[in-house]
Amino acid sequence: MNDLIKVEGLRTHFFTDEGVVKAVDGVEFSIPMGKTVCVVGESGSGKSMTGRSILNMIPYPGRVLEGAVHWRPNGAAPIDLLSLDPKGRAIRAIRGKDIALISQEPMAALSPVHTIGNQMVETIRMHLGLSKSEARQRAVEMLDKVGIPRPADRLDSYAFELSGGMRQRVCIALAVACEPKLLIADEPTTALDVTTQANILDLFRQLRDDMGVSILFITHDLGVVAEIADEVVVMYLGQVVEQGPVRQIFHDPLHPYTRALLGSVPRLSRNRKERLATIHGMVPSPFERPSGCLFHPRCDVAESGLCDRVMPALTRTPTGRAVRCVKAEASHE
Ligand SMILES: Nc1ncnc2c1ncn2[C@@H]1O[C@H](COP(=O)(O)OP(=O)(O)OP(=O)(O)O)[C@@H](O)[C@H]1O
Ligand code: SF4
Ligand SMILES: [Mg+2]
Repeated sequence: MNDLIKVEGLRTHFFTDEGVVKAVDGVEFSIPMGKTVCVVGESGSGKSMTGRSILNMIPYPGRVLEGAVHWRPNGAAPIDLLSLDPKGRAIRAIRGKDIALISQEPMAALSPVHTIGNQMVETIRMHLGLSKSEARQRAVEMLDKVGIPRPADRLDSYAFELSGGMRQRVCIALAVACEPKLLIADEPTTALDVTTQANILDLFRQLRDDMGVSILFITHDLGVVAEIADEVVVMYLGQVVEQGPVRQIFHDPLHPYTRALLGSVPRLSRNRKERLATIHGMVPSPFERPSGCLFHPRCDVAESGLCDRVMPALTRTPTGRAVRCVKAEASHE
């Protein structure tokens, strides 16, 4: 097995005054060593909470109820990250060092009152135990690696003095400075303009190829998935509905939801007069989860009496793919 991480039966719910939100409801997938796995789905599908559950960092009133996150960084016996005390020393040593989180809003990750250099030096010293001058040297190397011009001068800058794209590069430099094995990037390019987005995606590819880092890349944008993914996990209402290698997901999607998502992506080759398909209906409120298959009210091929009654299981195909649809199961037997 060359999986760095294996998520099994993950359930993370929010206990709100209005009721229980099943943000993540039985999610499973693996991240191979040195590969990029993209988690994709519409807003509210549970992408961010899946990423945060891996580090057991769920905000109140949420809680990881069940599941395991088998972490196997050195080929040794795996550790279940969810079995560790969420406030304990062991998980804190992993957060920010072995597993780093990069979010959509870099300002949230950067201190407004400390220089970039001070923040980087502090983090590097804490996790790698280097001297101040060694940590400073490493900070300069990392800023250079992520494409920041005149990196030594930048150490004295504050985050607010930089553009959005440069701030995100600093966050990535901070994340990779301690040689993580896994980067969890939650919509890291969504707030950026198209050119900057393309440059940052290039940077993620380069980090995967040069440093061998694994990446869990969360996005709602299939254009981004096509650019960066090795493997794709498609989520809907807290469940994985399809998973597989990126080529197969794009060329031979098995799940009606994946097909609908792909149908709603603008393509350059599309005839201008051809209308862009959209997924009909809306994602239901988390308090009105449909019976049976969660996608059935929006599914073009739903079968009455079956799809509204039976919740399909996530079924693995012999070629290493997985799909949650009664019809796909039948056609792949
Ligand atoms: N603090 C919270 N309190 C209550 N419910 C929450 C909280 N955070 C998230 N949720 C709910 O959990 C579900 C999954 O949320 P999550 O943020 O993981 O979705 P997402 O796929 O990342 O969506 P987006 O694309 O909008 O970022 C949603 O229904 C959301 O409303
Ligand atoms: S199980 Fe039925 S409703 Fe659900 S995706 Fe498959 S065909 Fe559509
Ligand atoms: Mg999100």
